[in-house]
Amino acid sequence: MTGPRKLYVKSYGCQMNVYDSHRMADTLAPEGYAETATPDDADLIVLNTCHIREKAAEKVYSELGRMRVLKEAAAAQGRDVKIAVAGCVAQAEGEEIVRRAPTVDLVFGPQSYHRLPEMLARAERGKVVDTEFPAEDKFDHLAAPSREATRRRGVTAFVTVQEGCDKFCTFCVVPYTRGSEVSRPTAKIVAEAERLADAGVREIVLIGQNVNAWHGEDESGRASTLGRLLHRLSDIPGVARLRYTTSHPRDMDDSLIAAHRELPALMPQLHLPVQSGSDRILDAMNRKHTRAEYLAVIGRLRKARPDMAFTSDFIVGFPGETGSDFEDTLRLVSEVGYAGSFSFKYSPRPGTPAADMEQLPEDVKDERLQILQREIDRCQAAFNARCEGRTFDVLFDRIGRHPGQIVGRSPYLQPVQVMAPPSLIGEVAPVTVTEIGSNSLFATLNRAPAGALHFAAAEA
Ligand code: 5AD
Ligand code: SF4
Repeated sequence: MTGPRKLYVKSYGCQMNVYDSHRMADTLAPEGYAETATPDDADLIVLNTCHIREKAAEKVYSELGRMRVLKEAAAAQGRDVKIAVAGCVAQAEGEEIVRRAPTVDLVFGPQSYHRLPEMLARAERGKVVDTEFPAEDKFDHLAAPSREATRRRGVTAFVTVQEGCDKFCTFCVVPYTRGSEVSRPTAKIVAEAERLADAGVREIVLIGQNVNAWHGEDESGRASTLGRLLHRLSDIPGVARLRYTTSHPRDMDDSLIAAHRELPALMPQLHLPVQSGSDRILDAMNRKHTRAEYLAVIGRLRKARPDMAFTSDFIVGFPGETGSDFEDTLRLVSEVGYAGSFSFKYSPRPGTPAADMEQLPEDVKDERLQILQREIDRCQAAFNARCEGRTFDVLFDRIGRHPGQIVGRSPYLQPVQVMAPPSLIGEVAPVTVTEIGSNSLFATLNRAPAGALHFAAAEA
């Protein structure tokens, strides 16, 4: 064998998959795998897949077609390439994937990726399919990232605090692919966050399919909630910003809402999917809350933190959705005044209750999607326009596209472009917004860089 083996991981779907992909790379690093940015020279290709909508799942098969060509070309040169399908499509389809795409060597679900080294060894002898929900905690067996790997991944890092979902919305595959809710213990979350902060991470995003259902004990054994966990994490030196995603409206408890008032590090921005603005459809979706209850949660959060910005997910064309149900959704968008949102056409997922209900015609779904997206865009533009002239902190995270420009995120998660030295990357600095672009804000730094200050003082 010459040199380290190369690993290419491609993530689809949610942030949990991005996190999982990183942990797979960390777990394979001690096995001699170095990450590569293209599949062309990889020895192991992992597609970390998403099953949430049909389109997402089908993408995997078209990508596998391309990977098969690479694998065959490598084989012609005497190089063995292994192809793995991980994540939620793997969990949902298992053996079926190998039948449909015989080029695949390994299939493993989200609960098995700590066993990757052992599965790879087995794959030398034949196909491996592992979609168990093992009793052991995978997090106990996963390697931590090196300081270098953490640095490379940037100033914002995800930490999984909770996985799985017990809500069973009638459209959703997550309870089946990710299993029931499991919370990670406080001590492990804190240790991971400390390690990230120590390597230079400034912003920690707690992730979970139902992140605000997190519960556990604090380090002294007292019952704890996500609100209390956020308090604990805000004590870690170096952590400038905290966020959490994705939340369910039913699990926004008092301690979490209070945390938005009490913790300056907790950003005033929340992704709180509502899916529909119609009580009838919310009920058919088994969301377990009404439109009024959702609005009440928004109201309480705004009371705790008046500048709170909200985003949501919406599904149009759910079975039985009438024109008037859809109107209710449209009205909700402007009533909340979302800072942005995602909208999806309902996609029937095998094995979920709504897949067996009578479906709406595709053209109705298409039309509603367009109308809703326009309304979402209008609200987002209005939210951005209200930022003009405002001063707020930006966490700079990368070099911009234009010379001399760096880019960061506002407290509300908008990208902000500023002319400033690259030494500010990883820093939080106040800016004033001067112009609103279509996808980002333009701003000037309030604090002049050290050299410029000196110059100004000499002039005065
Ligand atoms: N069809 C369309 N959208 C869906 N989502 C989840 N399941 C489906 C489905 N079957 C959307 C929801 C969820 C987001 C992650 O994906 O809006 O919040
Ligand atoms: Fe899916 Fe509903 Fe659970 Fe969210 S809360 S993961 S939409 S079942």
